[in-house]
Amino acid sequence: MIVKGNRLEIAFIDDENALGTKILIILLVKPKHMLNASINPPATYSEILKQSQAIQFSMPSDLETGCLIRSLAASKPGGVFLDIGTGTGLSLSWMAAGADAESTIISIDNNADYQQIAKSVFADDEKVSIICADGAAWLKSYQGPLFDLVFADAWPGKFECLDKALSLVKKGGFYLVDDLLPQPNWPQGHQPNVDQMQQTLQNRTDFVMTPFNWSTGLCLLTKVG
Ligand SMILES: C[S@@+](CC[C@H](N)C(=O)[O-])C[C@H]1O[C@@H](n2cnc3c(N)ncnc32)[C@H](O)[C@@H]1O
Repeated sequence: MIVKGNRLEIAFIDDENALGTKILIILLVKPKHMLNASINPPATYSEILKQSQAIQFSMPSDLETGCLIRSLAASKPGGVFLDIGTGTGLSLSWMAAGADAESTIISIDNNADYQQIAKSVFADDEKVSIICADGAAWLKSYQGPLFDLVFADAWPGKFECLDKALSLVKKGGFYLVDDLLPQPNWPQGHQPNVDQMQQTLQNRTDFVMTPFNWSTGLCLLTKVG
């Protein structure tokens, strides 16, 4: 079992010591091979995280997912990016940090209070548009250019309107989804939704998929068809 980067090992069980009691020794062992590099978040991330904690925002994406989003955005100069589920703007901060000045980013959420934090932090960033709307309605009505990266972090685009979200990815573009490993904030009985969604992704012949047993459980798809 891995606990905060360390491997949890039950190292020794003394069945019967002199006092007739049992001894259980549990060790936290640092794995032999670990990268020394660490994740360096953008300043906007740290600012948004502080404000998110102040309002007790309970659905933040994690550092690993964010770091990957930044790399994917950086791979598409002049890219067109979609962030479904702005929340307070954490994933958006990574996307904006990877995107160059010629890129455009649309971020959607139906909760204006959460988005207010993102809006204040990105007020002067011209490449970022933050839209308050129902994600499903927005996806269905979207008529603009296809996207180089769609990060799906809300029910719409993930468990609802999945085909529509996938249809909006440009050839060579990415679709990234997180929270596929059990999370404390999953609704009850959610596993079948996740299983079905992964099956749908796996069946798509117009994408190649990399599943990651890492971060919160990610699937990265690249459009090939
Ligand atoms: C997991 S959080 C997003 C977290 C964010 N991406 C981050 O990096 O911290 C999911 C978000 O989806 C939003 N949401 C839920 N239902 C929605 C809907 N029908 N349309 C748009 N947004 C929705 C919630 O308000 C919430 O902010």
